Amino acid sequence: MLIGPDSVEFPGFSPALDEHLESAAGLLSLLSVRIDAGFLSKAPGLRVVSNMAVGVDNIDLEACGRRGIPVGHTPDVVTDATAELCIGLMFAIARRITETAAAARGGKWKAWSPAGWLGSDIRGATLGVVGLGKIGQAVASRAAGLGMKVVYTSRTRKMDAETSLGAAFLPFDELLRTSDFICLTVALTPETHRLVDARALRLMKPTAYLVNVARGSVVDTAALSHALRDGIIAGAALDVTDPEPLPDTNELFSFPNCVITPHIGTATYQTRKRMAEMACENLIAGLEGRRLPYCANEDYLKSFS
Ligand code: GLV
Repeated sequence: MLIGPDSVEFPGFSPALDEHLESAAGLLSLLSVRIDAGFLSKAPGLRVVSNMAVGVDNIDLEACGRRGIPVGHTPDVVTDATAELCIGLMFAIARRITETAAAARGGKWKAWSPAGWLGSDIRGATLGVVGLGKIGQAVASRAAGLGMKVVYTSRTRKMDAETSLGAAFLPFDELLRTSDFICLTVALTPETHRLVDARALRLMKPTAYLVNVARGSVVDTAALSHALRDGIIAGAALDVTDPEPLPDTNELFSFPNCVITPHIGTATYQTRKRMAEMACENLIAGLEGRRLPYCANEDYLKSFS
C-alpha cells in the first residue's frame, strides 16, 4: 500500500485508509505521513514500513522496533541531488535570480543600470555548514570548488572531512557570527528542532543568507519572518518549510529576498528512480522476512528482540 498526500487512492487519512491499514502487511510511505504508535495500532498485521526518503523523522522508529517492524529508507542516493539544489539555492538568493527573473518577465527591466539588482559574491565568501553528514560534505566539497571558505558545526568533529575538504570546525554560535551563507543539512531530531530561532538569527551577520535543505522545523518559521521583515539577515532560501506545504498566505512568500521551493531536494529523474527502487527493495525484503538492505531502525529492532 502506498500512502502520501499525492495518493489518488488514499488521499490523507480517510476512513478508506484505515480499512486498508487493518489488512496491510507492508507500507510504502512518503515523508509527509506521520507513522507513530497510534498509526501502527490501526495496522495489526504490518511487517515492514518502507519510507521513500532518507529522512525518517516522520516515523517513530522506536514504536516500530517495539512491534518488530523494520523501517526502510533511501540513504546515499539522495546526496548529490540535494547538495546540488543547496548550491543552486545559494546562487538564487545571492544573485537574486528568482526575484530578477520575475521582474524581467513582469516588464520591470527598463535599462542596464550600474547599481541595479546587486547581489553578493560567492567566491571568497564563508559558507557555514550545519551538520557535516553526507549531504553537508557534498555541499562543502562543491563550495570549496567555488572558492568559498568552508566552516562547519556538528555534534562530533569530522577529522577526515576537515582534511579532505579543508573545512574548519566552529561552535554553532561562532559559525553563525562569521558565515556569509549558512546551509542547514542536519537531520531533524529533538536537538535540532527550531535550532535556528530568534536568538540564532540575531547572531547572524545582517549581510548573511540562510539556506535550508534539511527539514522545515529546524528553523522557527515565525522568527525567520520577523528577521526578514526587520532586516536582521539579508535573505533566505528554503527548500523545506514548517509547515509543509507552506500556505500561500504565509508572510515568507511576501519577501523578495526569500526564495521558496516545494521540497525538491531529491527531485531529479535519476535520483527519484533510484529512491523508488530502493524503497521497493526494502519493502519486498520485509515482506519476505529478509533483512532490509537499507534499514533505519536496526538498533531498536535489536533492543526489543
Ligand atoms: C528528502 O527530504 C529525503 O529525506 O529523502
